[in-house]
Amino acid sequence: MTAQQRLQAMPVPLLAWYDENRRDLPWRGTRDPYKIWVSEIMLQQTRVTAVLPYYRQWMEQLPDVTALAAVEEERLLKLWEGLGYYSRARNLQKAARMIVQELGGRFPPTYESLLRLPGVGEYTAGAVASIAFGERVPAVDGNVLRLAARVAELEEDILDPKVRRRIREDMTAAMPSDRPGDFNQAMMDLGAMVCLPNGAPLCESCPLSRLCAAHAAGRETQLPVKRKKAERRVEEMTVFLLLSQGRTAVRKRPDSGLLAGLWEFPHLPGHLDEGAAAAALGEMGLVPVLWRQRLESRHIFTHVEWHMTGYLVEVRGEGAGLTWADRAELSALAVPSAFSRFLEAVQAALEESAIKGKEEDAETSSPAG
Ligand code: ADE
Repeated sequence: MTAQQRLQAMPVPLLAWYDENRRDLPWRGTRDPYKIWVSEIMLQQTRVTAVLPYYRQWMEQLPDVTALAAVEEERLLKLWEGLGYYSRARNLQKAARMIVQELGGRFPPTYESLLRLPGVGEYTAGAVASIAFGERVPAVDGNVLRLAARVAELEEDILDPKVRRRIREDMTAAMPSDRPGDFNQAMMDLGAMVCLPNGAPLCESCPLSRLCAAHAAGRETQLPVKRKKAERRVEEMTVFLLLSQGRTAVRKRPDSGLLAGLWEFPHLPGHLDEGAAAAALGEMGLVPVLWRQRLESRHIFTHVEWHMTGYLVEVRGEGAGLTWADRAELSALAVPSAFSRFLEAVQAALEESAIKGKEEDAETSSPAG
């Protein structure tokens, strides 16, 4: 059998398997393109189980494209907080505004027209067009590439755009015309549940094992082939977790670049020791009065790793360019997950000072004095 013949033979066993084993997911009970689109963008960030609570909250607060077009940026980013790549949330809103303002609120109903929306690439356009509108177009994500590479025993690098394009063409030819959305989602489910990455496929329970060239050759754990990714750059930094009168200092990141427009704790390049950190605070116009805790944290982005030293420190003074937020204000801001460990420590410290504040009030107002 040729590679194409193997791929062409997939739909029948694949869809039979899907009818028995599909995952019950909240965006599967609908053909509403808005819901499918939002779910697909979220699913590019992380796995299905992690997306579920975000998706539910989003749909409660922004049930349609008009609501998304109108929502304030802070609230939008808050709904996305923890998912990463905030430009995806911003693009969702840009696209929603385009749909409302230029298309009269009507969702673009074809693969080609979906591609014109900001943040919508071949994968997302394929997923929405096939699932919501029944168009016969593939949605090729990492799961689909892995499955195709194994079934057809492809030796080429699946990260190579030429190879991806060919797989896309082969998938287009293999797709059934009656259930394109189910076919795409069946590929995704099989990739996520059975044809697992990192050398652990469950071939005994795979509906395609008899078709699979890699399985026949005993090579399923060696495929797909991926070239090595470029190494990430490491950035070291010192993060100031400042406390003053029940507030902490934050600042807004610039409007472009990594984590654009989000809130962060002030920081400086390099790992500063306590002495150097005190001097740096002095330059910011602040006086340290109590060093409470030193914390280490790391965060990995696609191209950079942040290695961070945090100082939780009580200070006096205002500091230039800083915004002082109390507990409630802080929890309403979108702070990227790169800072979660620090955010937790600051929230705990603010909580504690709020309790102490109340106790002190109670003491001063108590008749016993
Ligand atoms: N991953 C991305 N999109 C998906 C979908 N619609 N169903 C299951 N897994 C997915």
